[in-house]
Amino acid sequence: MDDDLIKRDFDLSANNFLALPSRAEYFCAALTQEMLMQALLFAREQGVAIKIIASGSNVVLPEKISGLVISPGMQGIVKRGDRLQVSAGVLWDDLVKESIERFGLAGLENLSGIPGTVGAAPIQNIGAYGVELSDCFGGLVAINLKTHERHQFDAAACQFSYRNSVFKHPAPAQYIITEVEIALPQIQAFKPCLDYADLRNAVAGGQDSHSPQAIREAVLQLRYSKLPDPVMQPNVGSFFKNPVINLSAYNSLIKKIGPVPNHIEGSFRKLSAAWLIDQLGLKGFRVGGAQVSNQHALVIENAGWASFDDILALTRKVQQAVMEKFYISLQPEPVFFNGDPIS
Ligand code: EPU
Repeated sequence: MDDDLIKRDFDLSANNFLALPSRAEYFCAALTQEMLMQALLFAREQGVAIKIIASGSNVVLPEKISGLVISPGMQGIVKRGDRLQVSAGVLWDDLVKESIERFGLAGLENLSGIPGTVGAAPIQNIGAYGVELSDCFGGLVAINLKTHERHQFDAAACQFSYRNSVFKHPAPAQYIITEVEIALPQIQAFKPCLDYADLRNAVAGGQDSHSPQAIREAVLQLRYSKLPDPVMQPNVGSFFKNPVINLSAYNSLIKKIGPVPNHIEGSFRKLSAAWLIDQLGLKGFRVGGAQVSNQHALVIENAGWASFDDILALTRKVQQAVMEKFYISLQPEPVFFNGDPIS
C-alpha cells in the first residue's frame, strides 16, 4: 500500500460539518487526477467499496466507514468563452467570488456562501434565493467507479430537480465527479434574480445595488444573519427539504390549521419546513447531543457530543411530530451514509 496516498483508519471528524466521530477504513485525499486513478486502482485490487466525501458539508457519517473514502481535491478554473471549467475540489464559494471578480461573469451571486465543493454541487443541485445550479449548468465529467471510464453528463442526463439529481443516493457511489462546467452570461447581458423578498429588501436602495457584487454581499449578509455558523455550531445547513404537496393536500391542510406560508410551484405548493417545525415549538429540542437549532428551525446541530444515532433519532422525532400534526412527510436533505431514514 502507498502510505502517502492511502491512509488507514483515518479520523473523519474534521471532514464532516456535523463534526460527528467517524473513522474510515482507508482514506485518500486525491489532489490530482493521477492520485484519483491510483486510488481507484487500489480499491479494485483490495476489492473494497468506494465512498466519496468532499468537504463533508452535506453528509451524516456513521462511526465506522468500511472501504475507501476518497476526497476529491483537484483544483483549477479555466474560462472558455462564457463557460468556466472547474475542477471538483474547488470550494463553491471561491468559484462564485472568482466568477464575478476575476472573470467578470454574473449568474452565481445568489448562490454565494454555500459551503462545499464544486464537485458536490450537482449532487443535490444546490440552490438559494431563487437560483439553482441547474440554471447555470453547462455539463460535467465523472468517472465510473467500476469501469474507470470517463463520462460526460449534460443537464438532462443529470436529472436535476429540487435538491436532487441522478447522483444523489446513499453511499456507495457509482461515479466520482471530477469537473463541472458552468455556463454564464457576461455581466452586460445579466438579469438579476430578486424573486425573494428578503433579498430584494436587502439590496434595495444600495449604491449600484443590482450589480452581481452587491447581490453577493447581500446574500452573504442574509446567510450570516439567518444560519448558524458551522464552525461554532456544527451543522449541514437545511436538514430537511421543503415539502412539495398537491393542491388537494394543501387545501385540506389549511382547512385544518389555517394559513400556511407557501410558494406556488405549478399545480403544487412548496411549504416551509422551518415554519412547520417552528410551529411545533421544536427549536432547541434535543436528543442526546443532537439539537434543533435555536436560531433556525430547519437546522440540526451537534451540541458537542452528538453521535450518528443521536442525529438519526432526532431526525425521526422531528419527522414523526410533523407527520402527526400536519400529515406531511419531511425528507432529509443531507446524505445519510447508512441509508436514508424513513418517516
Ligand atoms: N421560518 C420559521 N422559523 C425559523 C426559520 C424560518 O418559521 O426558525 C420560516 C419563515 O417564515 C421564513 C421561512 O421559514 O420566511 C423560510 O425560511 P428561509 O428564508 O430561511 O428559507 P428556507 O426555506 O428555510 C431555503 C433553502 C436554503 C436557502 C434558503 C434561501 C431548502 C431546504 N433550504 O431555506 O438552503 O439558503 O431557502 O433560498 O430549500 C440549504 O440547502 O442547506 C440551505 C440553507
